[in-house]
Amino acid sequence: MTSSELPPVHLLCNSLVDPLAIRTGPPALSWSDPDAIGSGPRSAYQILVASTTDALAANVGDVWDSGKCTDRGESEVLYEGRPLEPLSPFYWKVRTWSAAHLESSWSDVATFEVGIGGLDAWNGLWISWNDQALAFEPATEAGPVDAVGLGLTPAPYLRREFDVGEGLESARLYITARGLYEARVNGQRVGDAVLAPGWTDYAIRLQYQAYDVTAQLNVGANAIGVMLGDGWYCGFFGFESKRSGAHYGDHPELLAQLHLQYRNGVSESIATDASWKANWGKILHADPLMGVSNYNGLDPTGWDGPGFDDRRWYAVRTRDRDATNIVADPGPPIRVTEIIAPSSMAHIDADTVIVDFGQNLTGWLRITVDDATSHHISVRHGEMLDADGRLYVENLRTARQRDEYVTSSGSEVLEPSFTWHGFRYAEITGYPGTLAAKDVSAVVVHSDVAEAGTFACSDPIANQLHANIDWSLRGNFLSVPTDCPQRDERLGWLGDAQVFARTATYRRDVLAFFDKWLDDVIDAQRDSGAFADMAPRLGLEWCGAPAWGDAGVIVPWTLYKMYGTLRPASRCYDAMVRWMDFIAQGNPEHLRTNDLGNNYGDWLAPSRDETPRELLATAYWAYDAALMSELAGALGRLDDACAYRDLADDIARAFVTAFVDDDGRIASDSQTAYSLALSMDLLPDHLRSAAASHLVEAVRQREWHLSTGFVGVGYLLPALSAHGHTDVAYRLFEQETFPSWRYPIRHGATTTWERWDGWTPERGFQSPFMNSFNHYAFGSVGEWLYRFVAGIDQQVGTSGFSDLRVRPHPGGTLEWAGATYRTRHGTIQSRWQRDAATLSLRVHVPDNVRATVHLPSSDAGRVHDDAGRTPTSIEVFPGDLALSEAVYDVGPGEHRFEGPYDL
Ligand code: BGC
Repeated sequence: MTSSELPPVHLLCNSLVDPLAIRTGPPALSWSDPDAIGSGPRSAYQILVASTTDALAANVGDVWDSGKCTDRGESEVLYEGRPLEPLSPFYWKVRTWSAAHLESSWSDVATFEVGIGGLDAWNGLWISWNDQALAFEPATEAGPVDAVGLGLTPAPYLRREFDVGEGLESARLYITARGLYEARVNGQRVGDAVLAPGWTDYAIRLQYQAYDVTAQLNVGANAIGVMLGDGWYCGFFGFESKRSGAHYGDHPELLAQLHLQYRNGVSESIATDASWKANWGKILHADPLMGVSNYNGLDPTGWDGPGFDDRRWYAVRTRDRDATNIVADPGPPIRVTEIIAPSSMAHIDADTVIVDFGQNLTGWLRITVDDATSHHISVRHGEMLDADGRLYVENLRTARQRDEYVTSSGSEVLEPSFTWHGFRYAEITGYPGTLAAKDVSAVVVHSDVAEAGTFACSDPIANQLHANIDWSLRGNFLSVPTDCPQRDERLGWLGDAQVFARTATYRRDVLAFFDKWLDDVIDAQRDSGAFADMAPRLGLEWCGAPAWGDAGVIVPWTLYKMYGTLRPASRCYDAMVRWMDFIAQGNPEHLRTNDLGNNYGDWLAPSRDETPRELLATAYWAYDAALMSELAGALGRLDDACAYRDLADDIARAFVTAFVDDDGRIASDSQTAYSLALSMDLLPDHLRSAAASHLVEAVRQREWHLSTGFVGVGYLLPALSAHGHTDVAYRLFEQETFPSWRYPIRHGATTTWERWDGWTPERGFQSPFMNSFNHYAFGSVGEWLYRFVAGIDQQVGTSGFSDLRVRPHPGGTLEWAGATYRTRHGTIQSRWQRDAATLSLRVHVPDNVRATVHLPSSDAGRVHDDAGRTPTSIEVFPGDLALSEAVYDVGPGEHRFEGPYDL
């Protein structure tokens, strides 16, 4: 097989691998071209969707045959076949043609299922504990269940048995909860998702998941058992130590339906109803913020298998289904993605060990115990140690993050359900004998977003920063993008998400994750049109804050830009228009001075309010308008595109009149003010380079330190590099003293801190009331590493990396740097290296696209590629007079360039 015949790979439906339930509407099918270089771009594709594998093997698309479509296939192709029935599997494959009309072989087969269908398709009832079970006090020998007076109650266990006949073809479990569920069939865990069904505004929308349980069933008697946790629904969550009905409800409930499909066409459904039985087991409480209390001896052995005697279990309380929307979970599942061994352990007294995992992370501990007697083991989790080497927990506020176990006897694995903690250190008390490293590990948990990009360079601290950025992404992408995973907050703040979104897309495939969260953003939108400051909004009315609400426009645009798909933007479009109308109504003069809600300003900037809040607000409004114009144009709404373009121009003019002097100086002279104005295109051409020089001066004034908060930080280094001041960008980037990115790393950070000065040797910890060591916003510098340092970018006005611009920015003390980025067109690679006199660059352009490659040089006329060719053109390198830029226009393949670089 030649490379041009290699089949498409990485087939996705709605950006998920083989989903068993998808959001309503036509599925979006996508694939990647293989990472091999053939004969140039793909020029056509064909998709077959079939109802059976046999039909597909015979190349019959009985459900949909797209025919040969003579475009190269946009980033996603919307299904256009016959209506798709629920509860049935569909099989699909794709092939492509190269520009030279060479046909690829067919891809491997992928599948998707629509899921259970709409609300009417559910035939079960909501079930939960009845009052009798609720009033029950678990065994006193377990000790006080609610030692801290939090009102926490045991986790309901729910079960029933059912028969399966001969000839079962497939079985699917459709399941959701108000709360969290963990389902088991015949003694085995169902699926590998944890903390399902995830977090949504439960009063408006609930998600269900679908699992293939065919292989877990037997002919004859079977049993299903489900444990419920309080979770986001009725556990402690958010600040103010609230639970018990304060947010959504006061006890967890289950809705499930098992669909059995027999080969003879008969189907059967086993749903939650009055036939289920309820009891409690080892989980005396399980709470997101507080942790768990497990009394292992109390678990009813065999409760999740057939033949268990449940005559003494309680009847369940049933409740009719209501009108709450129940939708297929469109996001990636939360999963265990890594297990980490301790890096060191310290015995701080006879009974207490501090375990250091060497990495701040989100998840929990797995501990093995093997002892003949029962023990009480307690685990507390924290991100830092205090000066005496003890666990530092003050910054957790009211979150206890404590898991308690009473072991029975023999060999046991202790692991919590329905909780998660943010920690690097764990304090274990009461372990029998000597705890060894092999007995304990950290379980890493997050929404399972696949890696998309890699970055590495000659500087280990920069590599650590990149690792920290990724760890903060992993620690906080948990059903929704949260601010932090440890204290009593963990909320989906929009401001943090918008500033980090582009970095996240470079590092991981977060399309499905953000696509799900945008539903939360829409659900949280207020009647006025204001986007809430957080989504889900947890009952809070806070909305409309500049740089927070603007995420409702910036995130759909970022997904379009990076993935080339308009699917999220088109779904959110009306909500985005309402947001734009909301701002416009309150601010007729085109300065955003009204309706600013909580108006957080440049949050956590070293000098609070260095940047005027109206300036920041107006800049973001103009940016929204420009992005709306681009999206409207791409969506074919041309009138809107023009109107938003005019609006963006009007706001930019008002901005300049209000805040910019004739010499390009911007009010407040802050780094954030210049970064926003330059990045958001608010300045007339003749003032841009002057403003960029003022920005450099603003950095120099701070002795080459940062002065930005959340809102400006992501735009700062891109603004400097894009305006010819990469040297200054590196100076900031390589700054070691506070405030800088390296400062926390020098003090041992393994994630991005919330504050530049979370801990200093002089003062110790910042205020415990707001001091997370795992907040991703300051990590938004990641975009600069990929886009500027390694140079992986796309041409202005294009999306989805269909037209590349590779433009590395060497600088600072770096001797080499490189990145890879997996796109739908294949993987892009860029790696440069320099010595005293020469810069060399290696670029891999995927098979389906072209690139302009820009190589800075001290003499661009002497740059050559590996075939000895001179540049396609020579351009002036912006800003730096010592450099010119050699530009090559290249097609797919591996390219090498080299030129003088003797600065
Ligand atoms: C959160 C932030 C959030 C902010 C709103 C804080 O408590 O941790 O990340 O964006 O509140 O200003």
